[in-house]
Amino acid sequence: MIATMSAPLFDAESLRMGEPPRPDVPAVTPAAEPPDPTSRPRREIPEPTALSGHGPATVLAMCNQKGGVGKTTSTINLGAALAEYGRRVLLVDFDPQGALSVGLGVQPHELDTTIYNLIMERRVTLDDVVLKTAVDGLDLLPSNIDLSAAEVQLVSEVGREQTLGRVLAPALPHYDYVLVDCQPSLGLLTVNALACAHGVLIPLECEYFSLRGVALLMDTIEKVQDRLNPDLEITGILATMYDPRTLHTREVMARVVEAFGDLVFDTVINRTVRFPETTVAGEPITRWASRSQGAEAYRALAREVIAR
Ligand SMILES: Nc1ncnc2c1ncn2[C@@H]1O[C@H](COP(=O)(O)OP(=O)(O)OP(=O)(O)O)[C@@H](O)[C@H]1O
Ligand SMILES: [Mg+2]
Repeated sequence: MIATMSAPLFDAESLRMGEPPRPDVPAVTPAAEPPDPTSRPRREIPEPTALSGHGPATVLAMCNQKGGVGKTTSTINLGAALAEYGRRVLLVDFDPQGALSVGLGVQPHELDTTIYNLIMERRVTLDDVVLKTAVDGLDLLPSNIDLSAAEVQLVSEVGREQTLGRVLAPALPHYDYVLVDCQPSLGLLTVNALACAHGVLIPLECEYFSLRGVALLMDTIEKVQDRLNPDLEITGILATMYDPRTLHTREVMARVVEAFGDLVFDTVINRTVRFPETTVAGEPITRWASRSQGAEAYRALAREVIAR
């Protein structure tokens, strides 16, 4: 029996928020000094040390079956920030929508070879598919709509849950981090990502309904730990779309910290129009608006990830 079975991953009771906030609750509080989002003392995070060599990579699945919570945005910008710290990073677009690829300036429909070919065709190698991005040390395995067929085709394959792990294995010695951008579902593609990951990073939108699906996600993670990948850990919960001016955001954040404790990153990602802008620009925020608060937040997250 593995250790994870004895202790629950989180306190489900504290995720219950009762009634959604009523409209008569004042949305804006005049806080002169906004409190720290996690309402706990910030942890001491050391500056990342320079690396003398690379690999083997830590694989992180960026996962939440809820749509539009900032998985793709976090994959791109955490990846770019890790690369700024001298880490070699491979981003894996594991969503047939191809948003990660688009966000890095790649037109997915124009690609002949994508991760779909890599996982479905034995003759296709990583080198055939990997693209360099404009960021030094940041590579991409792109995807497009072809990947939606893989979910169906994989069902009849032997070792269907280990397909992604098998094709990524040759890449691990060459990278420090592999970030897998999952699609908003808990289907076979996401299970593939969880089965080969060392850790799961869960972006969580600071909004009432975002807490509802978390129990289901935790359940899936526990099943994967039991049946496929006993070493899988939760690397951290990342609060996104945080708006320090609203009481609601801060209430949701308090619940998340109550439920997940130290798993919640000190870093939170504020809601800002800068992120949609970067998608149009096809660049990470660390390049598009290098000194912006959003860029600094993802650098802070990168430091936390390196320290964990
Ligand atoms: N911190 C933020 N503030 C404001 N907008 C954001 C923020 N993060 C992401 N967005 C925007 O919200 C939308 C959804 O973000 P993103 O694509 O990263 O989410 P996702 O979880 O990957 O979505 P999906 O589940 O569809 O894959 C995008 O338009 C993105 O630009
Ligand atoms: Mg996405």
